[in-house]
Amino acid sequence: MKKIMLTGDRPTGRLHVGHYVGSLRRRVELQNTGDFDDIFIMIADAQALTDNADNPEKVRQNIIEVALDYLACGLDPEKSTLLIQSQIPELCELSFYYMNLVTVSRLQRNPTVKSEIQMRNFEASIPVGFFTYPISQAADITAFKATTVPVGEDQMPMLEQTKEIVHKFNSVYGETLVEPKILLPENEACMRLPGIDGKAKMSKSLGNCIYLSEEPEDIKKKVFSMFTDPTHIRIEDPGKLEGNTVFTYLDAFCKPEYFPEFLPEYSNLDELKEHYKRGGLGDMKVKRFLNNVLQAELEPIRNRRKEFQKDIPAVYEILKKGSEKAEKAAAQTLKEVKDAMKINYFDDMELIQEQSKKFSE
Ligand code: TRP
Repeated sequence: MKKIMLTGDRPTGRLHVGHYVGSLRRRVELQNTGDFDDIFIMIADAQALTDNADNPEKVRQNIIEVALDYLACGLDPEKSTLLIQSQIPELCELSFYYMNLVTVSRLQRNPTVKSEIQMRNFEASIPVGFFTYPISQAADITAFKATTVPVGEDQMPMLEQTKEIVHKFNSVYGETLVEPKILLPENEACMRLPGIDGKAKMSKSLGNCIYLSEEPEDIKKKVFSMFTDPTHIRIEDPGKLEGNTVFTYLDAFCKPEYFPEFLPEYSNLDELKEHYKRGGLGDMKVKRFLNNVLQAELEPIRNRRKEFQKDIPAVYEILKKGSEKAEKAAAQTLKEVKDAMKINYFDDMELIQEQSKKFSE
C-alpha cells in the first residue's frame, strides 16, 4: 500500500511556534525522509469559513500568510503538494455522501466540536457547516487516501470520526476507503505548547503567541516576559519546573548542540533543570538561554520567508499547481466512491440492460 501523508491548517492567522513544534517541524522531517509516495498539505479555507462566515476577508488574507509560513519552514513544493481546500470541489461531494453515515448525536459527542462550540459561545446558534466539519475533514483525509496524518492532540476526535466513516462506508459499500493513522507530537511540551503567559494554549485572541515570522527584538521581549515559577523569588530559592513556561519551551526547542554554543557551563537540559530545582539558578539566565535557542531556531525560518515574500505571484502559482494536482487525486477517489455506491448510472451497462429487460417483459 502507498504511504501518503496529509495534514492542514485553517488560515485564520499567521502560524506560531505552537504550530511548529506541534506538527510543522515533523512534516518537514517526514518530507525529507523521502519515505512517502505522496504528501498533501492543505490550507483549510473552507473549514475556516465554517466559523468565520461573516469574515471571509480574514480567511482570504491569511491564505498567503500560511503558505509563506509553510515554505519558510521548509515544505518544498517539489516534494509536497500544497493545496487550497476550497479549490477541490470533490471534497464537498464526498462530504455530502458521508453525511448519511454519521448521526447528529455522534457529532454532538465529538469532544473537539463540543469544546469549540463552548469557546465560541455558539450555544443554540451553531452553524450547520461548523457542526458538520468533522465530516468534511473526513473527506479531506480520505480523498487523498491518507495513511499518516500528523496533527496535534486536539485533532484526535477528528481522526476517530474519520475512521468510523471509513469503516461504515467500507462495510456498506465494499472496501473502498483507506483508514488513516494519527501521528502525534513527540513529547508533552510539543503536544501542548502553552502561550508565553503560561495559559493552556497559544491563541491570537489571548495575545500570547510567538509567531514564526516574529522579529528578533519581539522574540526577545516575549521570552523575557514569560511566565515562570511565581514562588521562585530569589536566585537561591528552589524552583519548580511544572507549569514553568520557560522550561516547557526548552523541552520543545532545545537541542544538545545549543549547550556548548550558548551555555557551556551545563552539559545538557537535565543538568540545568536539576540546578533550577535545587536553587541558585536565576530565571534571567534561563531566559537568556531560551532566547538564544529561539533566535537560532527562528532566524532561518524568518529569512526564508523574506525570500519567498519577494515573489508573491510565484507562491500563488505553487498553490494553484498543487491544487490542480490534488484535484486529480480527489477525483479518482470520488470516482471509486461513486462506483462503490453504484451511482455511476451511465457507466453501468449491466444496469441499463437489466432495466431494458424489465420493461420489455
Ligand atoms: N482541523 C484542522 C485544524 O484546525 C485543520 C484541518 C482541516 C486538517 N482538514 C484537515 C488537519 C485534514 C488534518 C487533516 O488545525
